Formats: sequence, C-alpha cells, structure tokens
Amino acid sequence: MRWPRPISPGRRLLPVVVLFVALCSIPGIFSQRLVTLDSIDIFTTHEWFPSKPTVYFLCNGEDKVYLPDVKDANNIYTFKGEESWQPLTQLPEKKCKRCGLYEEDTFKHDLYDEWELCSSDFKKGKYTHFKEGQFNATFLCPNCTASAGDSANHDSSSEVETKKSSVTVIIIVSVLSSVLVIIALFGGYKYWLKKKRERDQLRFLKLFEEGDDIEDELGLGNEL
Ligand SMILES: *[C@@H]1O[C@H](CO)[C@@H](O)[C@H](O)[C@H]1NC(C)=O
Ligand SMILES: *[C@@H]1O[C@H](CO)[C@@H](O)[C@H](O)[C@H]1NC(C)=O
Repeated sequence: MRWPRPISPGRRLLPVVVLFVALCSIPGIFSQRLVTLDSIDIFTTHEWFPSKPTVYFLCNGEDKVYLPDVKDANNIYTFKGEESWQPLTQLPEKKCKRCGLYEEDTFKHDLYDEWELCSSDFKKGKYTHFKEGQFNATFLCPNCTASAGDSANHDSSSEVETKKSSVTVIIIVSVLSSVLVIIALFGGYKYWLKKKRERDQLRFLKLFEEGDDIEDELGLGNEL
C-alpha cells in the first residue's frame, strides 16, 4: 500500500522565498540613494589657452561621469536630474564615498576638489559643495534625507518614516514566523498521521495473523 509522501523540502521553502522577495520590494526599507547633480558653476577651467574644458565627476572605484554641458567658467548650469549621464552615483546608508570633480586634459588631470560625499550631508535631499576659486555645485538625493534623520528640519517626518518601516518589518516578520510555524505543524501532523497509519496497519496485520491462529485452533477443535 502507498502512503502519502511528505512534502518535499523545496515546496516547504517556497512560501519563505516568496515572502523574502515581497520584503525586499517594499519601498523605504531598501531605498536607493541616487545622487544627481542639480546645478554647477565652475570658477576656473584650469586651461592655459582659452579652450573648452572636459569636466568629470568621479567616485573612488567607480566610472567617470562626464559633464558634457559644463564648458564655460562663471556660468551656472542647472540640470533636470534626467540627463543621460545622471545619476552621478549611489550612496550607501551609513558610509561615505570619496568623490571629486576633475578636469581631463590630454597629458594630466586637474583637480577641482575631492571630498567625502555622505548621505547625512544632504539636508532636505539637497547638498551644496563649494570650493573657493574652483566651483560651487548643488547635489540632490531625495532618499538620503529620509533615513539620515539628523537634519533638524526633517526630524519629525523622517522619524515617522522610520517608525512606519519598522512597523512594516515587524508585521512581515510575524507573518513569516506564523507561516513557518504553520508549515512545521503541518509537517509534524503529516508525519504523525503517517506513523499512526503504519501502526494501525501493523496492528491490523497482527490481528489477521491472530485470527488465522484462532481459526486454525477452531478447525482443529472441530476435527477432534
Ligand atoms: C528612492 O528609493 C526608491 C525605492 O528603492 C527608488 O525607487 C527611487 O528611485 C529612489 N529615488 C531616488 C531619487 O534615489
Ligand atoms: C552656490 O550655489 C547655490 C545654488 O545655486 C547658491 O544658493 C549658493 O549661494 C552658492 N554659494 C556660493 C558661495 O556661491
């Protein structure tokens, strides 16, 4: 006789995987901190001859981001944030990146400035970096403020935000553990059922054998 097979481990894991994916897709918990350039004004071009500079932004270990429009000194360039070369970079939550603004020349690279770009520097999603005689640039990162939480103007709303996401996390963790408990209980019940059936079957067979014995004895008794 065939007994129902226990659920395979793969099928037991499926709901856990689904929940994990759902957890990751909830916005705010793993939000992206994309930094875009809002405006820039360079005060010098580092050029000996009046030629057009090639300006680029670079974070340590990443690719150069060329700013193709920035060609003249003392001119404020503003951007929409949707340009083909945006965003400039993406920031981690608790760690800064060493970034800089440079000018590319055929033989050498000139430095405008190099500094630590940090999530916590953004106030209301905005951060202005000014270097005397070099440039003044404003960067945007709307998601940086949401979790930084140390901007005085933004304290209450970011606190609410943090509370909201921790409540979400609590709910999801509870749901997840309930599902795990249910799966475990179900598995245990299936196992118990299987064992019980096996025991019953054994008892049944034994009963059969005993019955045979009794019949034999009875048959013998009749013959005598
Ligand atoms: C903010 O984070 C959300 C969620 O990850 C993402 O969809 C959005 O593009 C981010 N916005 C910016 C400007 O980084
Ligand atoms: C830098 O640029 C920002 C935005 O254009 C402006 O508000 C600020 O006054 C400028 N700062 C300096 C020192 O030029």
